Amino acid sequence: SLIIVVAAVGFVLTAYYTFFGGSDVDLEGKNKLKIPEILDDLNADPGIAEFKLEAGISQTEFTKGRLTPTLGYNGSYLGPVIRLVKGQDVSIVVENNLNEWTTIHWHGLVVDGENDGGPMQGIASGETWNAKFKVEQPASTLWYHPHFAGTVANQVYYGLAGLIYIDDEFTDTMSIPKDYGIDDIPLVVQDRNFNIDGSFDYRVSMMGVDKGDKILVNGTLDPYFIVKREKVRFRLLNGSNSQNFSFRLSNRAEFLMIASDGGFLEKPLKKEAIFLSPGERAEIVVDFSEFNDKSVKLVSNDDLILELVIDGELEKSPDIPEELAEVADIAADEASNTRIFELQSMGISGTINGKYYDMNRIDERVDLNATEYWIVRNVGGMMATGHPFHVHGTQFQVVSRNGEKPTPEESGHKDTVYVDVGEEVVIKVMFKKEGLFMYHCHILEHEDRGMMGQFIVE
Ligand code: C2O
Ligand code: CU
Ligand code: CU
Repeated sequence: SLIIVVAAVGFVLTAYYTFFGGSDVDLEGKNKLKIPEILDDLNADPGIAEFKLEAGISQTEFTKGRLTPTLGYNGSYLGPVIRLVKGQDVSIVVENNLNEWTTIHWHGLVVDGENDGGPMQGIASGETWNAKFKVEQPASTLWYHPHFAGTVANQVYYGLAGLIYIDDEFTDTMSIPKDYGIDDIPLVVQDRNFNIDGSFDYRVSMMGVDKGDKILVNGTLDPYFIVKREKVRFRLLNGSNSQNFSFRLSNRAEFLMIASDGGFLEKPLKKEAIFLSPGERAEIVVDFSEFNDKSVKLVSNDDLILELVIDGELEKSPDIPEELAEVADIAADEASNTRIFELQSMGISGTINGKYYDMNRIDERVDLNATEYWIVRNVGGMMATGHPFHVHGTQFQVVSRNGEKPTPEESGHKDTVYVDVGEEVVIKVMFKKEGLFMYHCHILEHEDRGMMGQFIVE
């Protein structure tokens, strides 16, 4: 009787796809997903990388015939992917062709304070800044964006952001999809509002930020992407100023999560949905060979993010390894300090430990090479919301969330952790680089209005 059931189910499914899945996918009004360029390394020596970025004012045609004033790096909106290799000595020259100050911060990169690109490394209009560092961390997907005090939210909203990929000694031989733009796809997801004339309608009030009713993926409005019937890796960045996403597939299929902010998880994790607050990243692998559909949608709650059209075959990709990487445990010695950070909402602004950011005040002093426990509490407040808590110059580990062990998806190294109203998250942080760094809420409007503090590692 099992055979009969299987045959019957098979027949019903076949009939279903013949009638409903048989018609061609309608891509009318949709735009092909833009894949950012990979930034040229100007130095032929593989051990040295030299890059040039230029922040400039531009216009972008998100909708045919309508120009949106935008900002971009080396282009009209967003920026290229900076590909780095562990061990490399890197120099990045950034030219500011905006009419205002900016900085460029390497989010998730473990470098000393002077090359971190925080608010102290301001670049005046017309000036350049040269960041120099050595890549010492494992393979991961990081990102870059401006960090000049008070203007971050606006500059990011108008387009200043881009991805950083780090490869290491293992990535070349790992059996995971890694053909850039073919089966290794960056997805920078941002919500936006538009005016009728095409310009952005960036609405902020005392109460908060309006959720965008449009989604841009890699700066593409109403995007579609053609995938082959094989395994495809997506590198997701929540590049929104303030919105959370909960990504899933429209057919509710499971996929594998393979990496979080700081790199690969120890083991691939079967997931049906991935929650990302602003600034967080996740890498997932979707096996399209398991689907009969001609198209599957990446959605967040009920919002369409990206239509994935399944067409054509790729060479069969091997299974994702059961062991991805060793996630180094951040050892906590007995001497390690504990600090408390209380996040409080005040409508569109907020405080940390009751204080607004002051660039002339150093909030915390940390010993170089120390490992500490940071207890991060969201104590609510006026118009209370969750806050993505981000720390510069380090990759940390989540020790507990509300007294419980973190879920496997939070078990890797992270640089941003979401703390919902009433929650307490304990993180274990190691400080390996000297200098002045920031910790802040990654809702950019909160960060700009004072929900940020600075610590010095010395
Ligand atoms: Cu994404 Cu302070 O940065
Ligand atoms: Cu950062
Ligand atoms: Cu916040």
